[in-house]
Amino acid sequence: MSLSISIVGGGYVGLVTGACFTHLGNNVTIIEVDEKKIDSINKGVPPIFEEGLEEILLKYSGTRLFATNSYASVAECDVSIICVGTPPNPDGSSNLEYIRSAAISIGKALKDKNRYHVVTVKSTVPPGTTEKVVIPEVLKNSERKSDNIGFCMNPEFLREGRAIEDFLHPDRIVIGSSDERAEGILKDLYSPLQAPVIITSLTAAEMIKYTSNSFLATKISFSNEIGNICKKLGIDVYDVMKGAGLDHRIGPHFLNAGAGFGGSCFPKDVSALISLAESVGEKPKLLHAVIEVNEIQPLKMLELVHSRIGDLKSKRIAVLGLAFKDNTDDIRDSRSIPVIKGLIKEGVDVIAYDPMAMSHMQKLFPAISYADSIETALNNADACLIMTEWPLFSQLDEEFSLMKQPPVILEGRRMIKRPDVEGICW
Ligand code: UGA
Repeated sequence: MSLSISIVGGGYVGLVTGACFTHLGNNVTIIEVDEKKIDSINKGVPPIFEEGLEEILLKYSGTRLFATNSYASVAECDVSIICVGTPPNPDGSSNLEYIRSAAISIGKALKDKNRYHVVTVKSTVPPGTTEKVVIPEVLKNSERKSDNIGFCMNPEFLREGRAIEDFLHPDRIVIGSSDERAEGILKDLYSPLQAPVIITSLTAAEMIKYTSNSFLATKISFSNEIGNICKKLGIDVYDVMKGAGLDHRIGPHFLNAGAGFGGSCFPKDVSALISLAESVGEKPKLLHAVIEVNEIQPLKMLELVHSRIGDLKSKRIAVLGLAFKDNTDDIRDSRSIPVIKGLIKEGVDVIAYDPMAMSHMQKLFPAISYADSIETALNNADACLIMTEWPLFSQLDEEFSLMKQPPVILEGRRMIKRPDVEGICW
């Protein structure tokens, strides 16, 4: 069955969701405010880097996939999906301004439609948002009753850089719904995918997303804490986590100790859950610790470099990896940011390299040097810090002979197999 879908928000979640639903045979209109993005999507050129996205856009842009700044498509389609951002407020809570405005615009667009319509929230929102913000705004602005508009909350579990793969091969699909008809339409939409479908209340679906991201972030901070203890005891934390992770109750994934987690999701979502917990009188001690460990972890790279080369003033230090993880140009909350800040403060001559993210980092740190190759970055360097798990770094070996000898190679990710490499937790 093919459906007509409007997606509000053409960021990485909205665009990937739109592209994948088109790929599965539906007609999709992406509603976006940024004219440059609209133009780019309609030309079949992805405005962000995401593996596999270009092929889908080239195939369907202008035939079954369109981008526009108008909400007119909402009245013509079967399902609208809200994929706008929920950026953090200064106190860590989620800013729901874009969610509210999307709900108002969808409501207004539905005023003259009589056919049943499903409004779905895919953005990560605090439990209660769909019921307390989206449903009332859509109903008020459409002047329609809830019997011919259904509401769903359908969180995404997409990793940046692997989002198409994650969308098409999910571990599970979570659908929170207000009524069985809406639930049935969403189930149909996902029916080409082979994955268990979990049906919940709207609020449980919202909470599942925060729980998943907070648990994954907890696994990382836990591994880092064990890694810090192992480092002091001279034990290899990767051997330890391999041994522990093969217990099926623990699981082998997300146990890689190192410089900690970055990105636009884990830091923001754990902080939002903390803020939500405190707003209802709970003291989430564990979640606070997850953030605290993550903030201290990259600074351990600075301690390590000090312990190896002493005073850092005027030393030349290569930083390899600026993106918050491999396969993306995204530097949001990247663990290399506090490290570069610390190095600058100590008067270091920083030379940075990343296969994709240098232009973004240049805006944040215009005064450091950026190398056009790994070799240029390493040339005559007093130390090299590896901050991102780019697979190409794992092949480095001979290149380190360009550094001052013997080379000081320090890793925030476990990438390089050489006896003279020291890691943040190993
Ligand atoms: C994360 C979740 O993995 C997705 O399921 C979720 O949908 C998404 O957030 C979101 O909320 O939209 P993402 O932020 O793209 O996805 O990145 P991850 O691949 O999960 O990595 C996050 C960070 O954790 C990276 O900085 C990575 O280097 C770090 N990490 C990951 C570790 O330090 N150790 C590990 O073992 C795994």
